[in-house]
Amino acid sequence: MNQDFLPINGTDYVELYVGNAKQSALYYQYAFGYELIAYAGPETGIKDRASYVLKQGKIRLVLTSPLHSNHPISKHLMQHGDGVKVIALWVDDAEKSWEETTRRGAVSVEAPHELKDAHGEVKIASIQTYGDTIHTFVERKNYQGVFLPGYVSKKSSYQASPIGLLHIDHCVGNVGLGEMNTWVSFYEKVMGFSLLVTFDDKDISTEYSALMSKVVSNGNGFIKFPINEPAEGKKKSQIEEYLDFYGGPGVQHLAIATNDIIYTVGELRKRGVEFLEVPSSYYDTLLDRVGSIEEDLQPLRELNILVDRDEEGYLLQIFTKPVQDRPTLFFEIIQRKGAISFGKGNFKALFEAIEREQELRGNL
Ligand code: FE2
Repeated sequence: MNQDFLPINGTDYVELYVGNAKQSALYYQYAFGYELIAYAGPETGIKDRASYVLKQGKIRLVLTSPLHSNHPISKHLMQHGDGVKVIALWVDDAEKSWEETTRRGAVSVEAPHELKDAHGEVKIASIQTYGDTIHTFVERKNYQGVFLPGYVSKKSSYQASPIGLLHIDHCVGNVGLGEMNTWVSFYEKVMGFSLLVTFDDKDISTEYSALMSKVVSNGNGFIKFPINEPAEGKKKSQIEEYLDFYGGPGVQHLAIATNDIIYTVGELRKRGVEFLEVPSSYYDTLLDRVGSIEEDLQPLRELNILVDRDEEGYLLQIFTKPVQDRPTLFFEIIQRKGAISFGKGNFKALFEAIEREQELRGNL
């Protein structure tokens, strides 16, 4: 067996560029229960932008806004709106990660360099992936600070109440027509990932819109990146709608793991987070489709949580509506009870729900 040339310990952080990081930070604290832990901005010597770091479980979200109209992040926001800029990967050797990937064809965004402060040093390097999205390799074994050098510890006067979000389960990218295989082979050849599963348009087409998807995963399986592309359907694919509004390829959704989806989703709903709705008839035959499950059917039906089963077990999942006005980034909440798959059995019901939303937006 070949040695993994890009060992990854997990997702280090996900950075979103947003129009108003101060307000977004409060949304994620209030609605999703993240805790504000760190900040960088003018008060800390960063003159051109402000970044808020939020944490829950092992998840770190960074929300960044530019302070000037001619800033590159402002251009990014004009084109894409709010969305994911960086999927950062926690590695033991950032320089080697950058060397191994750029040697295999990755486009460098930032060559390896050190960041230092009183709490130690971090080595980082970045490469380009689909669209304007990047991967940053973060080596933090010699760092004891709250996040990264340049950030200061910051607490909010608002006491966030966590809702059981644990870690990022998978992170999905949407790419253009005919580009899925290009990006799958980027992850295979340049990053040493392997193809986990393929969904073609027969698996996931509804009457109207269609898409194709392949999932790649790194050596230890901690990182899973499904890549979607639009497929020909009677009407506009949900992936095309995303590409139109994001202005190109980008991150479609982040799936966040929980150990108690009924509690997590109950809290999210109470706090105003909106979800896609499947018809109540979905639940009439659910147990015939997935067999017996530990949860009562009633709360699942009330909260509109979906269930699917594979050979290894079952999973429960639900999808938020887009979390900004452009129909782009959304979140999935997922609880795995053995299942290692992605909810293929729910694709049809789910995509019909997305199409109803597309129709309301006039984009189907
Ligand atoms: Fe997903």
